[in-house]
Amino acid sequence: MWVALASDHGGFRLKKEIIVFLRQEGIAFHDLGPFSEEAVDYPDYALMVAEVVRKGDFEQGILCCGTGIGMVIAANKIPGVRAALCHDCFSARMAREHNDANILTLGQRVIGNGLAIEIVRTWLKAEFQGGRHARRVAKITAMEQKYGKE
Ligand code: RB5
Repeated sequence: MWVALASDHGGFRLKKEIIVFLRQEGIAFHDLGPFSEEAVDYPDYALMVAEVVRKGDFEQGILCCGTGIGMVIAANKIPGVRAALCHDCFSARMAREHNDANILTLGQRVIGNGLAIEIVRTWLKAEFQGGRHARRVAKITAMEQKYGKE
């Protein structure tokens, strides 16, 4: 499992907590920044992670900002990305199992570190179930093609 992660200043401290967790678990990751808490624009970082996930360089992406909202909106503009904002473990599991989501977004100002780490753990453990869900995900890809995302 290869995970690309990034944040803006609003999600910087949560990203650092997630890095500690990934190290403990021996999960390979690449931190695409930022590397200080200085204010940055979340679309720049959403784009960086979305591009490497889209290309297949990384299987999964994690994006943290203040709410997770800006990151999920921006990442979902990139073809092939299915980003999900999850602030509970059930949604995280469903996003992987049913939606084949490939980027998790989280809001540092919304949930505590303990829950955020459990969400990340759940996300990385869950697998896409395929079957009827694959048909539905294919329809989303078709929508991207029709409206010029792909
Ligand atoms: C930055 O202040 C904040 O707007 C950003 O982290 C995020 O919450 C946007 O959706």
